[in-house]
Amino acid sequence: MRKQIAAANWKMNLTMEQGEKLMDEIIAGDIALKEHQLAVFAVPFPYLINVKNKTDNVNNFYTAAQNCASEKAGAFTGEVSVEMIKSIGINYVVIGHSERREYYNETNELLAKKVNLALDANVQPIFCCGEPLQIREANTQNAHIEKQLEESLYHLSAEAMNGFVIAYEPIWAIGTGLTASSAQAQEMHAHIRTVLANKYGEDVANSISILYGGSVKAANSAEIFSQQDVDGGLVGGASLVAAEFINIIKSLS
Ligand code: PGA
Repeated sequence: MRKQIAAANWKMNLTMEQGEKLMDEIIAGDIALKEHQLAVFAVPFPYLINVKNKTDNVNNFYTAAQNCASEKAGAFTGEVSVEMIKSIGINYVVIGHSERREYYNETNELLAKKVNLALDANVQPIFCCGEPLQIREANTQNAHIEKQLEESLYHLSAEAMNGFVIAYEPIWAIGTGLTASSAQAQEMHAHIRTVLANKYGEDVANSISILYGGSVKAANSAEIFSQQDVDGGLVGGASLVAAEFINIIKSLS
């Protein structure tokens, strides 16, 4: 059974004290996750160790980095390598969030390098894809997503793609309060899985967790996560509120 994942993306929010309080409140929610269900917390670099110390005590809770450098090591002041992340015991990294693509000019080619470094270090990427509003309005979102997958992931072997994690986040739904309808999410997730099946075969495609992101909240998560090809969510705003995120985790199917 493929993994169902509720992933929090704190982005550049919260002080360490606020973050620890949030984690304590979520952990106090006493969520019993099934074997195939995970909660992953993508937090700012300075908080990774403290948050990991908390998630280590909870069954199926994990900590993730929000980004990593596109080079292995060396004279890159201010960057954080995937090996550094791994060396403190972190096993997940978000790669290619639309905010990184838009504000830091991260291209599909650059993201391919990050994906390779992560896999080499045995860190699982949570690879983000998604289309802007004008692409959705022109109804060319399928081709847009295919190109993102092709240029950043298609060089990978079927073995590397087995159990991979992808997040589909339509940019027009991120932080806007506009959510894709569950039917729109299912349609794109099914398309992504078909494209992956054509490239890697049905078994590999069925092992890949495809998360939905974009204004997921407790009020819509159960409906979205119940869709056949939606395997959980990548959650920004609502992951900063304990009661919201507890209910989002609980709505994993
Ligand atoms: P949002 O962000 O839930 O605030 O829309 C999602 C994301 O950017 O990952």
